[in-house]
Amino acid sequence: MKPKVLVTRETFPEVIDYLAQHVEVEHNQNDEAYDEAELMRRLQGKAGVFANPTHRFAGELFAACPELKAVCNMAVGYNNIDVPAATAAGVMVTNTPDVLNETTADFGWTLMMAATRRVSESEHFLRAGQWKRWRYDDFLSADVHSSTLGIIGMGRIGQAIARRSMGFNMKVVYHNRSRLAPELEAAANHAQYLGMEELLRTADHVVLVLPYSPASHHLIGAKQLAMMKPTATLVNIARGGIVDDAALIAALRSGTIAAAGIDVFENEPAFNSDFLTLKNVVLTPHIGSASVPTRRAMAYLTADNLIAALSGQRPPNLLNPDTFQP
Ligand code: DGY
Repeated sequence: MKPKVLVTRETFPEVIDYLAQHVEVEHNQNDEAYDEAELMRRLQGKAGVFANPTHRFAGELFAACPELKAVCNMAVGYNNIDVPAATAAGVMVTNTPDVLNETTADFGWTLMMAATRRVSESEHFLRAGQWKRWRYDDFLSADVHSSTLGIIGMGRIGQAIARRSMGFNMKVVYHNRSRLAPELEAAANHAQYLGMEELLRTADHVVLVLPYSPASHHLIGAKQLAMMKPTATLVNIARGGIVDDAALIAALRSGTIAAAGIDVFENEPAFNSDFLTLKNVVLTPHIGSASVPTRRAMAYLTADNLIAALSGQRPPNLLNPDTFQP
């Protein structure tokens, strides 16, 4: 008998077909919203789950679903899963690293350039029929080229963002839990390691690419925003909660920093509606990895992790190796 799995949200139909060759699939191609109770109910008797960050997997769920062996998240970030609780319950947890590095790095640049060069604001002006005459000072901004790019969180996506800066004649500074090996710094446009405060004071554009954890909660708040240059842009493509959104709104409103590009929000998909009152922020709905090839690759990788986990093989992206029993 094939092991049973739940796919919690709609995904590529061909990935459902692929999974169905290996496991018995209960899918949610109508994309119904499962609350916690419904998720637990549907997980009864399931050995695996194809998950994504819209659902939380915490201790009480593992206790209520004793047959669950694997939670495979279609995302590189996995702060929606209590990994220690999963490990204690013997449940394997996987994510989808690497396949999204370049696409997400592209999007970090998209937001940095759009926010710095006031693309949303000027487009709204044009669409509203307000453009009557060319002016020498229409939508003046800072430059991206030849500036200093600050990256907080220098993992694989951060390094991909840094590599792109070579063509823009930029200097790269970074902060990370640990300093990169010299050859990785060299490949990342000779990135220079700085302490957080020095980075915030030095960079013209700051991009956040670090994982969310209790330690990174509100890492960027009023105090840190005040350290940044008044001409600076802040980009968050990491996770909501790393930035104190209320403090960012206040900083954008008062001109503490010039602009922001924000793809992730505290409590998303709900977000602080005061953002909508600001012209100097570009807002997108968590689409950093959303190219067709990348989202498809993430879905297949999630399926491969799930199939491996339920067929006695080590999943390629196992986050809690202690749970694997060959
Ligand atoms: C990720 O992979 O973590 C992206 O943010 C999508 O959730």
